Amino acid sequence: MRMTETQAGAENRGENRTQRPESAAFKSFIMSQWGARPAARTEAGPAAPFTAARREAISALFPGERLVLPAGPLRTRSNDTDYRYRPHSAFAHLSGLGADREPGAALVLHPLPDGAGHEAVLYFQPLAGRDTEEFYASSRTGEFWVGARPTLDEIAAETGIRTAPLDELAADLGKDVGGDPGAVRLRLVPSVDETIAAVVEEIRAARGTAEGAAEADSRLAEALSELRLVKDEFEVEQMRAAVAATIAGFERVVHELPRARGHRRGERVVEGTFDANAREEGNAVGYETIAASGEHATTLHWIRNDGAVRAGDLLLLDAGVEVESLYTADITRTLPVSGTFTEVQRQVYQAVLDAADAAFAVAKPGSRFRDVHDAAMKVIAARLGEWGLLPGSAAEALAPEGQFHRRWMVHGTSHHLGLDVHDCAQARRELYLDAEVRPGMVFTIEPGLYFKADDLAVPEEYRGIGVRIEDDVLITANGHENLSAELPRSPSDIETWMSALGAVRPPRDV
Ligand code: GLY
Ligand code: MN
Ligand code: MN
Repeated sequence: MRMTETQAGAENRGENRTQRPESAAFKSFIMSQWGARPAARTEAGPAAPFTAARREAISALFPGERLVLPAGPLRTRSNDTDYRYRPHSAFAHLSGLGADREPGAALVLHPLPDGAGHEAVLYFQPLAGRDTEEFYASSRTGEFWVGARPTLDEIAAETGIRTAPLDELAADLGKDVGGDPGAVRLRLVPSVDETIAAVVEEIRAARGTAEGAAEADSRLAEALSELRLVKDEFEVEQMRAAVAATIAGFERVVHELPRARGHRRGERVVEGTFDANAREEGNAVGYETIAASGEHATTLHWIRNDGAVRAGDLLLLDAGVEVESLYTADITRTLPVSGTFTEVQRQVYQAVLDAADAAFAVAKPGSRFRDVHDAAMKVIAARLGEWGLLPGSAAEALAPEGQFHRRWMVHGTSHHLGLDVHDCAQARRELYLDAEVRPGMVFTIEPGLYFKADDLAVPEEYRGIGVRIEDDVLITANGHENLSAELPRSPSDIETWMSALGAVRPPRDV
C-alpha cells in the first residue's frame, strides 16, 4: 500500500515543471558517495509507558477485533504544496507520536488468538535508502526535501510498538476478516484517511461484512474520545507545559501592546506575537488565535484579526500553545488596551469574573460537568437582571423556557481540553455533559458577556463591549487546580501586570 492512485497523483503534482535530470549517469552519481548516517535513537520516548496502558484500555473494549487508527495523510494546500502536517489526535494518543513524521501511517491493534488482547503494530513509510529515487526525488517523503525519515527500528524504540512498512498494511488488514463466528471484525477510525478507508471498504465488500460497519466505526471513534476524558500523569505534565508556554505568549503580547496600538492592523501584531512564541516554544498554536479588539471582541471566533487596537478598547485574546506532544492550552484574557479599565468595562468584567469564580466553586469531584455551566449562568443572569437588561426576572431567564441571558453568551462555559482544543468531543453525552466530574479531567471555564455594537436591547454604554475570561482547570482528588492561575484575572491585578510589562509605555519607546 505504498502508493495508491490518489497518492501517486499527489506525488506527481507539479511534474510538468520539473527539470530533474533523468540520465542513468546522474542517478548513479546522486545515489553514491554518502557518509554514514548518524547512530539510530534507541531510547523510548517519555510517553511510551503511558500509551501502552491506553492501548490496553481500548483493547479490552473490543476483544477479537482489528482496530485501525490512521495518522492521516498530508493535506494539499494548493497544487503541489501541503499544509504543515499534524497527525490525528487518537493516533497520537495511542502511539505517543506527535510532530510530523507519520503522514499516511496507521496504528493497528491486531487481535491475538483466544481473546488474549491485541498486538499493536505501527505501519509507516520508513527512511528510504540512498539508492532509491525517493531519496532525492520525492518532495513529500524524500530526504532531500523533508529531511531523513526515521527507520522502522527507530520508531519501534521510541514508541515501544512493533513497526512494519506501510506497504504491508493492506494485506495485514484483511487477514482472517469475515462475518462467521471466530472471524476477525474490522473497525476503522472514520474520516481520517481516504486511502486506508478505501482499502477497508474493499475488504468489507469482499468478505460481506459491510453491514453495520459505519456504526461500528463510530463506536470506535467514540471510545477513543472517551478514553481521553481523564488524563494520565504524562498528559497532565504536558498540559502544564502548554499552559506555561501560553502564559509566556500572553506576556509577550502585553509587552508588544504599544506596537500593536501604533499599527493599522494591531490585531495582527497581537496574533503574530503570540504565534511566534508558540512556534518558538512549542509546536504551534492549538487553534487559530483570536485577537479581537473593541467590537470584534463580541464575535466569538474572531480570527480575521485585521482590526486596529485602540486605547479605550478592550482587547480579547483567546490563544493556546500546542506543545510538541500536541497537547494544547486554551486561555482567554480581556485586557484594557490603555492599561486601565473604564467604569463600565470593569462592571461587565467583574460580572464575568464572578461567573467564572462561581463555576470554579463547583469544579470538583461529585459535581456534574453541567453544574459548572449552570453555576456560571446563575451569576450572569443575576447581573443582567440587576442591570435591567432582561425581559423579566433572573429566575424567569434561568428557566428552560426563558434563557434570555443567553442572548449575551451563546456559548457553553466549559469544554474538555487536551490533544484537541475541544477534546473528547465525540464522547457520549452521559460521559460528558451529564457525567460526574472526576480527578484527572482537564477542562476550561470560560464565561463571557458580549454586547454587540448594534444591540438595541442594551443601553448604549454597554454596546461594543465583549469580555471572556478563560482558564484551564485540572480536577484533583478534593477539588481543582487552576492551571492558568498565574495569569492575572482580577481587574486590578491585570492593570498592575500590564503596567509592569510596559504595556502603557508611549509609542516613542516601542
Ligand atoms: N478558543 C476556542 C474556545 O475557547 O473554545
Ligand atoms: Mn475554550
Ligand atoms: Mn478559547
